[in-house]
Amino acid sequence: MRIAWISGAIVLCFGGVAAVRAANPSTDLPAGPIRDRHELMEGIGNNAKTIGDALKAGNTAPVVVAAEQIQRDAGRITALFPSGSTHQKSRAKAEIWQNWAKFEGGAKDLQTTAAALVVVARSGGDVRGGAQAMFDTCKSCHDQFRIPEKQG
Ligand code: HEC
Repeated sequence: MRIAWISGAIVLCFGGVAAVRAANPSTDLPAGPIRDRHELMEGIGNNAKTIGDALKAGNTAPVVVAAEQIQRDAGRITALFPSGSTHQKSRAKAEIWQNWAKFEGGAKDLQTTAAALVVVARSGGDVRGGAQAMFDTCKSCHDQFRIPEKQG
């Protein structure tokens, strides 16, 4: 069940990413924080996919390094959202700057849950709950602060 849920979360996180890439290669984004955070999120996304795939395969060995990288990258999120850094190709909502403390809290939650996942993965424990808690933080922040993808 949990694995199925996590796969669903991964699909939610990644569904349409290929389409976004085709329509919005990062070179369409202005150099600076908007392009940098796109690349940061893509890196976080790739590590999240590594974790999801590892769980599906029942081989959790890759989880430690991937979660360590997410933990580190989570600490870089807020600096790449300077006030007013919007762009027509960015999916950042204006709510980020209207509700900065909450946005910061979301980035912190990702960092904390990734750190907890590193600990449980290093100990060889059951990583599913930890992974689920971490993926919840992606969804929570995206639901509040990321503009939904345009359909069609
Ligand atoms: C604190 C808020 C926050 C958290 C936590 C967060 N994200 Fe994001 N993410 C965003 C925002 C905002 C954008 C859109 C940025 C933009 O378009 O300028 C985004 C964009 C993305 C993108 C699209 C990149 C692109 O431009 O094509 C991916 C993939 C992504 N996030 C994956 C993840 C994953 C996986 C996690 C959890 C492991 C996560 N994010 C956690 C806020 C967050």
